[in-house]
Amino acid sequence: MLWKARRIFEARPQSTNMGEKYYITTPIYYVNAEPHIGHAYTTFAADVLARYKRMTGADVYFLTGTDDNSQKNVEAAGKAGKDVAIYIDEMAAVWKETWKRLNISINGFIRTTEERHRRGVEKFWRKVLASGDIHKGIYEGYYCVGCESYLTEKDLQDGVCPLHKQKPEILKEENYFFKLSNYKEKLLKHIEQNPGFIQPKERRHEIINYITEHLEDISISRRSQKWGIPVPDDPEQVIYVWFDALINYLTAIGYGTDDKKFSKWWPADLHLMAKDIIKFHCALWPAMLMSAGLKLPKCVFAHGYFSIDGEKISKTLGNVINPTALCDEWGRDSVLYFLFREIPFGGDGDFSYERLANRYHGELSNGLGNLVARVTKLAGETPALGESGTSMLEDEVRDIGGRYKKSMENLDFEDALECVWSLVAFADAFLQEQQPWKKEADDKERIKALTSVCELLWHTSWLLEPFMPDTSEKIFEQLGGKEEGDLTSLVWNPERFKGRVVKKGEVLFPRKE
Ligand code: MSP
Repeated sequence: MLWKARRIFEARPQSTNMGEKYYITTPIYYVNAEPHIGHAYTTFAADVLARYKRMTGADVYFLTGTDDNSQKNVEAAGKAGKDVAIYIDEMAAVWKETWKRLNISINGFIRTTEERHRRGVEKFWRKVLASGDIHKGIYEGYYCVGCESYLTEKDLQDGVCPLHKQKPEILKEENYFFKLSNYKEKLLKHIEQNPGFIQPKERRHEIINYITEHLEDISISRRSQKWGIPVPDDPEQVIYVWFDALINYLTAIGYGTDDKKFSKWWPADLHLMAKDIIKFHCALWPAMLMSAGLKLPKCVFAHGYFSIDGEKISKTLGNVINPTALCDEWGRDSVLYFLFREIPFGGDGDFSYERLANRYHGELSNGLGNLVARVTKLAGETPALGESGTSMLEDEVRDIGGRYKKSMENLDFEDALECVWSLVAFADAFLQEQQPWKKEADDKERIKALTSVCELLWHTSWLLEPFMPDTSEKIFEQLGGKEEGDLTSLVWNPERFKGRVVKKGEVLFPRKE
């Protein structure tokens, strides 16, 4: 029988095509503490998407960084008894190193204390000023340093910020204000005309309410603070940290310093974050961009918040999980698998060591790991794979491949992983039915079955890559090496196993007792 090489994906992903650019960002994190598992969660998610998009042939720019100009950082430096600039440099290095150790495939890292950022912020400020959207006024009210946000009486519970359980500062000073209220109708219209702009849709409703009910002009400078970017032509004041921080998404790709690079990457395709900071990204940020005459990001996606064994992640409770330590213990790929299989992306979720251990042993060690070991062992003992293949598994792989692609495009990571594991289950059932171990090594039926199941593992390994790059690499190695290519060129072609040396390698997920 002649092999018909068929694409496992019927169509290319809709939102990116071969060679298209894809610009994805995480929030820039405060450096008042080391990264915890919550920060790693967002960064992991962005990494999954960046890797997936690269696999579809897109030209990807994946950005993260640090929000250096926050008052929270200044306070943390004070507590550590360190000079602010030194403390921030040290901490930013810790964040950068963490992403490196966690195998995060970033293309750029921005710090808001960098000169390129300051230049871009200054340019941006002047544009907004020229649009007539900056005016002076007196700000009198509450400010929560924990939130780095102005609060109203209504926001407080028993006189304290409900999130940080702290009494807010009372501020009265002459500031510069941004005419956010000018953009109310424009923002609502943009959200209405671009249903994909804010996701998931629960967040869209929340933002529409917020814009309709609460949008007011906002103070964008602080006279009483010294740490930050000075207001252009008024060095007595520094720019409000959120106004400064949001602009990182522009300055990191050349705004104010490299026009060519900037026009290549802007607008962002996706700003990813948790729901805590979505108002800044879906009201203030687009209004700032409109005022500066720039395009808006295509999508802002806010995932949920997660707790640990039912408790809020907090230093006081002492339940902060260091992502590097966790990954050292369980393996980076396993942690990532657990997080995205366990918590439906977009909703709130809970982390538990017990469930991590269960999934590790059940789905990784006994599931995928065991399958790879069995198949590569049997195939390794079979003299000539690929001699006569079979399309027995092809339809299943094609259907699952299509569903996986849709799920990835919708950021439904849980379902994408479910797709991969349904291939694992399918392969197990197939082996059970064929029982190749009962046949002689050179039996035609045995060769056919094992060639098919190797090809299925081959595709499984591709689909795993965005989540578990090391594991995927190890599976390819055992299957005789990876071929150049991407998802758009992925075809069902068991004949690739002709002449390949398949051999059992290291145990993928050793059991932990
Ligand atoms: N510096 C601002 C962001 C400026 S972006 C222009 C900031 N920094 S932060 O360090 O507080 O990071 C907040 C983000 O960290 C959340 O939006 C989310 O991405 C991540 N998370 C922190 N804790 C988390 C959980 N417990 N659960 C999920 N995500 C978490 O806000």
